[in-house]
Amino acid sequence: MLGAGVAALALLGNAAVAEPATGEQLVDVLNKIFGAHEKTRASHAKGICVKGDFKPTTDAATLSKAPQFSAPVPLIGRYSLGGGNPAASDGQKDNVRAIALHFNLPDGSVSDLLMITAPVFPAKNPDQFLELLTAVASKDKEKVAAYFAANPESTGQKKYLMARQVPASYATADYFGVHTFYLTNSDGQRQAVKWKAVPVGGFVGLDDEAAEKSGTDFYRKELEQRLAKGPASYELFAVIGQPGDQDDDPTAEWPADRKSVKMGTITISGLEPAATCDAGVFDPNVVADGIEPSPNDKILPMRTESYAVSFGRRQ
Ligand code: HEM
Repeated sequence: MLGAGVAALALLGNAAVAEPATGEQLVDVLNKIFGAHEKTRASHAKGICVKGDFKPTTDAATLSKAPQFSAPVPLIGRYSLGGGNPAASDGQKDNVRAIALHFNLPDGSVSDLLMITAPVFPAKNPDQFLELLTAVASKDKEKVAAYFAANPESTGQKKYLMARQVPASYATADYFGVHTFYLTNSDGQRQAVKWKAVPVGGFVGLDDEAAEKSGTDFYRKELEQRLAKGPASYELFAVIGQPGDQDDDPTAEWPADRKSVKMGTITISGLEPAATCDAGVFDPNVVADGIEPSPNDKILPMRTESYAVSFGRRQ
């Protein structure tokens, strides 16, 4: 048994050193903000499951030895809106749209890629994200304002979204991987990149009035009608990092003049039953050999942890 003095010291120690955020805590606070909805993701709750394929360019294999960069592969994808509200409005301007992809590789494994319609995330590490979500969950406007005043880097995503139009379609949005990944080719050369997907045909948006008039649920119908006529395609680019570019902070963008290499074409050809996408998790750390999540970014491992918690709760 501990003496009273030792126990007090242990308590003092706990008070002095805050415990790092856990996936469980992050999912709890997401559930608090958006409600815990049965069989529903704690974030990106509203989505559409799709299928298609990926065709690499000949340049792609010079950067990465991952199998999807040397031969075409089929894919399963899921479009979604950010946040845990399954009835979120498709027209909401200050929310991200997203695309999550499982590249189905010839050996039966998958390599995942998740992107959102903003180049940055609102938190640089899990503790900061927990602090932000906790402030939002409190519904106390002063607490939220105090959080943003003390953490200005958290305002970048909303500023980006508010300066752009709402995408008219999931097919006409551009998407960003946000984090840094390292690609390795068959000669062992390693290169820092960030992912970016640009719709073939360019970005098409809705002005504020049109977005409001479109109602809350226009993306699914638009996509069904579009895919009935033909596929939706995006060009996937690897934005090439330079020495000194930050690889640890998803609130930070690289300088705008960084060159890109076209890695291939993502083609979405049809809808897929929701169950196909709900059977597992899209995880940014599940990647083929030749792609490596930045080991310096603390948000990345927390995504695997919290997605597993969310998956467990929605089973
Ligand atoms: C620590 C930070 C983050 C937390 C706690 C978090 C939390 C979550 C949770 C709980 C889910 C649902 C997982 C599931 O049930 O399958 C999810 C899905 C998703 N997240 Fe995050 N997220 C974080 C960072 C990010 C970042 C930086 C991005 C940017 C690309 C992102 C993009 C997505 C996308 C696209 C999905 C939907 C995947 C699907 O369609 O199944 N998240 N997130």
